[in-house]
Amino acid sequence: MTRRQLTDRRALVTGASSGIGRALAIELARQGVDLVLLARREERLAEVAEQVARLGRRAVVVVGDVTDPVARLNALESARDQLGGLDILINNAGISAHGRFADADPGRLRPIMEVNFFAPVELIRESLPLLRAGRQPIVVNIGSVLGKRGCPHKSEYSASKFALQGFGEALRAEFARLGIDVLTVAAGPTDTEFFQHLIEEHGELPWKESQPVSPERVARATVRAMERGRHEIIPSWRGWLLVTANRWFPWVIDRIMARYG
Ligand SMILES: NC(=O)c1ccc[n+]([C@@H]2O[C@H](COP(=O)([O-])OP(=O)(O)OC[C@H]3O[C@@H](n4cnc5c(N)ncnc54)[C@H](OP(=O)(O)O)[C@@H]3O)[C@@H](O)[C@H]2O)c1
Repeated sequence: MTRRQLTDRRALVTGASSGIGRALAIELARQGVDLVLLARREERLAEVAEQVARLGRRAVVVVGDVTDPVARLNALESARDQLGGLDILINNAGISAHGRFADADPGRLRPIMEVNFFAPVELIRESLPLLRAGRQPIVVNIGSVLGKRGCPHKSEYSASKFALQGFGEALRAEFARLGIDVLTVAAGPTDTEFFQHLIEEHGELPWKESQPVSPERVARATVRAMERGRHEIIPSWRGWLLVTANRWFPWVIDRIMARYG
């Protein structure tokens, strides 16, 4: 495809109050994008909106839970009424839990699937009329390398990101005739608050998390991929190594993972 222009485009970013979502909102504003910012923490969203305004772009704050249909509708109506439409949908909000499946509270699976999978799916469905009328429209799903290789102690999270990955691939084919791109960002370990907000934690992980990359780096790589019309990126070399090794030598990765299971 021709290079995607970002100047004067309109984006909705979920989970824009911290981490990758916050960095993406600021990076997009730098490229000339106006934004709707959706998350639950109002003060944090207000701070991001202030940064966006300093860069000379508009930011509309919508406080709400992405699993709530009313919050999603508010966000889409804000894009339509205050920004005049929507060109970019970024499904970034996400949560996780740590600990073996056998020890897990049965109640931890559904919230993870609700936030990481069902909410993005429904938001894509609900945003289609606006995206179809948008300019060079694109859906960006913030997935994970664990959506390409399952990992012990994070089974529900891996499953939610596999679901998002597969859904994105299917939609990319379906949306081609609508002119809507789908980009999946298979993020690796990133230095954010993510691990402070785990919904359940059973003991320490039996390995040291590898050196995380900054959310700003993930945001820059994502924006570059949007401009270039890429379908999928893995914005950390450690993540790339895991996925590549797993593709060619899955039995080796199985063995390594089993040591930690
Ligand atoms: N950090 C990593 O190592 C890593 C690795 C791979 C993939 N990822 C993915 O990257 C994405 C962003 O995570 P992050 O690392 O930037 O973590 P983060 O700093 O904790 O950000 C998560 C964001 O999601 C929002 N959120 C969570 N639940 C929500 C809900 N029910 N409704 C609305 N917003 C909600 C949070 O905002 P509020 O709390 O204000 O609602 C926050 O803005 C996630 O999809 C995650 O799976 C992260």
